[in-house]
Amino acid sequence: MSRQLKLGAFLMATGHHVAAWRHPDVPANAGLDFAHYKRLAQIAEAAKFDTLFVADSVAAPTQDIASRMARSDHFEPLTLLSALSAVTEHIGLIATATTSYNEPYHVARKFASLDHLSGGRAGWNLVTSDNAAEAQNFGRDEHIGHAERYSRAREFHQVVTGLWDSWQDDAFIRDKASGAYYDPEKLHVLDHVGEHFRVKGPLNVARSPQGQPVIVQAGSSETGRELAAQTAEVVFTAQTSLASAQAFYADLKGRLPKYGRSADSLKIMPGVFVVVGQTEAEAQEKCETFQQLVEPEVGVALLGRMLGNFDLSKYPLDGPLPELPLTDSGQQSRQKLLTELAGREHLTLAELGRRIAGGRGHYSVVGTPAQIADRLQEWFEQGAADGFNVLVPHLPGGLEDFANGVVPELQRRGLFRTEYEGRTLRQNLGLARPGNRFA
Ligand SMILES: Cc1cc2nc3c(=O)[nH]c(=O)nc-3n(C[C@H](O)[C@H](O)[C@H](O)COP(=O)(O)O)c2cc1C
Repeated sequence: MSRQLKLGAFLMATGHHVAAWRHPDVPANAGLDFAHYKRLAQIAEAAKFDTLFVADSVAAPTQDIASRMARSDHFEPLTLLSALSAVTEHIGLIATATTSYNEPYHVARKFASLDHLSGGRAGWNLVTSDNAAEAQNFGRDEHIGHAERYSRAREFHQVVTGLWDSWQDDAFIRDKASGAYYDPEKLHVLDHVGEHFRVKGPLNVARSPQGQPVIVQAGSSETGRELAAQTAEVVFTAQTSLASAQAFYADLKGRLPKYGRSADSLKIMPGVFVVVGQTEAEAQEKCETFQQLVEPEVGVALLGRMLGNFDLSKYPLDGPLPELPLTDSGQQSRQKLLTELAGREHLTLAELGRRIAGGRGHYSVVGTPAQIADRLQEWFEQGAADGFNVLVPHLPGGLEDFANGVVPELQRRGLFRTEYEGRTLRQNLGLARPGNRFA
């Protein structure tokens, strides 16, 4: 069969557009409404999406303007996806969990549990935390610096995956007649002692259906790429153009051989923000409806956060983006992307805030299903993507528009599945089941 693209439904409460919650079609309480998420999961599964994807931050925004944004109350991702695993059968469940404010034993245990609960559909989006405010919820005054976060993340990954191999696949025999519950020969105690962690093990969860949940990574700086090349099986990235996405794709795939990895062992899925209409004019009009709801101060607050935790409220809205130091607490790759965008298009602060109010800097396509499919096909066929993490402005409407319009168009072109290939997320993504390092 010819190569087909992968699709993730990036769920975010009321939708990705920062003002979506104010739209009449959007339930403003979506962040803590399980029925809402159940509906989203079922729309995405009926459309044969590979996976649901849930981002996270372990802090609520506290600046004054936060009271005008729908970003302060939402489900914790693993809890949410565990509940969704019970009302879905095929779709992958990718939750974000930070390596900066967590312990590897907790993370290994929870994702192994989700993999068991879901019959092999769990994925871990390994992030290093791009929100500086998290530090103060975990006994620190300052956020851990960029280099230190990645150093900790690398070791964290080693420990988590080591714990996932605590037991060989057939370690638990549970033989009532002989009284042997597990085979001690098939138990492996990790005994990890490193720079950041000391973890004895073993994990108190049997090896999970996928062997190991799928590892997803989202940092795109130099250090982020290197960690991804070494550890990730799916990479989520923000790119603004075909050319930048092609360069990122070639760079990251080019780093794999030195880790003994093949090009198809890592799937690159850039984010794409889509607004779908029956006609191009209708799509533009829909997009404009959301844009009209953005207060300039809200757009600028979102911008400051995405640039790497900067307070931009003291700068004039109609002035240029001020010169900022390289962020040590946030995403360096996103800071670069947004700074280049401002320069290229000569945008004022307010204009840039408005510009990213929907897709936060991800590639955006506003148009008909055919126009959107054209762009996705182009990226997919021209070395820029193996698939896409789809961001829609509002939920559930935007996901329905994509599922009912763009997915059938991609299927007609033979670019997307009409049935799930397998039972596990790995099988659907075309990723091998890892062997046990100790076996
Ligand atoms: C597309 C994308 C999505 C991300 N999602 C999250 C997230 O949900 N939670 C989080 O704490 N960090 C998130 N991050 C940040 C990453 O954790 C990243 O490791 C860190 O901010 C450094 O990024 P950099 O390597 O681009 O400098 C995301 C990064 C990117 C590029």
